[in-house]
Amino acid sequence: MSKNYIFGDVMIGKDELHKRIAELGAEISRDFRGESILAICVLKGAVLFMSDLIRELNVETKIDFMAVSSYGASTQSTGVVRILKDLDSNIEGENVIIVEDIIDSGLTLKYLKDYLLARHPKTLKICTLLDKPERRQADVKADYIGFTIENKFIVGYGLDYNQLYRNLPYISYLEEETQK
Ligand code: IMP
Ligand code: MG
Repeated sequence: MSKNYIFGDVMIGKDELHKRIAELGAEISRDFRGESILAICVLKGAVLFMSDLIRELNVETKIDFMAVSSYGASTQSTGVVRILKDLDSNIEGENVIIVEDIIDSGLTLKYLKDYLLARHPKTLKICTLLDKPERRQADVKADYIGFTIENKFIVGYGLDYNQLYRNLPYISYLEEETQK
């Protein structure tokens, strides 16, 4: 028996994505009116979301990037988080918003949140494009959520399978096809 993956349908189309991201941008701008924001993109998956989201913010915004490893070439979180690229900036006293592609087990984000809180930001919020609450293992909640979705393996709009499909302009998913 071997496992193959086949593409599912389009789950969230381009227009729906952009409409929701504009709403999130407006919500964040309202919450931080008169303040400045430091948006931290969690590489690589959040890169498309981040670039669209920050264009919808009308408050003073700085950006930075972090890279962490959670998945290898499989579709299961190991719970082991490694910092591959740390921030360039000092976040002390900043209104930090972690921008994530998806919260699955929550293990990555839980680690990242504690790691960043130890550096004393003024506030720390989490903004995720997708949330898969069914799979949660760590106690972590996002403050801004684009879409709450069912338990499927997502690809597209930044999300990958074996580093592929990040460039799709919409959200799709992979289904396991079991062959004899
Ligand atoms: P977590 O630690 O299990 O919450 O997931 C950490 C990271 O795994 C996410 O930020 C994604 O980059 C990746 N990931 C989780 N679920 C999926 C998925 O369905 N498709 C692609 N990547 C995923
Ligand atoms: Mg990620």
